[in-house]
Amino acid sequence: EQLGPDLHLRPLASDDHKRGHFDVLSVLTAAPSLSPKAYKENFDELKACAQTYFIIVIVDVASDKIMGSGSVIVERKFLRAAGLVGHIEDIAVSKAVQGKKLGLRIINALEEIGRVRGCYKIILDCSEKNIPFYEKCGFKHKEFEMVRYM
Ligand code: ACO
Repeated sequence: EQLGPDLHLRPLASDDHKRGHFDVLSVLTAAPSLSPKAYKENFDELKACAQTYFIIVIVDVASDKIMGSGSVIVERKFLRAAGLVGHIEDIAVSKAVQGKKLGLRIINALEEIGRVRGCYKIILDCSEKNIPFYEKCGFKHKEFEMVRYM
């Protein structure tokens, strides 16, 4: 999808490590880069899970650099007649271009993927400070996140 003359939204590619994918991810948490080989192996492993991992990026065409990325993981359940739930994860927009609606575009695209895939809902975990962003994207608060680090 062309978002304008200079921005292109597309699925992650197996060589996106060279377009600054890790720089963008580092706005979320520690994201040390993988070797090109390890990057491709991880990419192929996710791809082998058919119709489960959908990772998208927004690329600045002029610089060929990734400006934002996000993913939706589709989980199949036994309840709700083998219903599907989409889990949105790792929404990241490069600091320099935050506040320009790229995050919103990423969420809209992931939602559309979930809809086409047949998910009955899409859920995500976020920090309190990101609540206004997700509300603008049409989400509402429900439940609490729990975690246990291994
Ligand atoms: N507080 C209040 N409003 C906000 C905030 C905020 N922190 N962030 C965005 N908004 C509003 C914007 O003002 C805009 O509102 P408007 O339509 O009235 O103008 C709307 O939300 C859409 O904002 P975008 O411009 O699309 O936001 P952006 O491109 O900056 O992306 C994001 C938001 C993804 C949170 C980005 O700032 C970022 O990468 N932050 C660091 C990483 C992060 O926290 N990611 C989310 C983790 S949670 C998860 O991944 C499931």
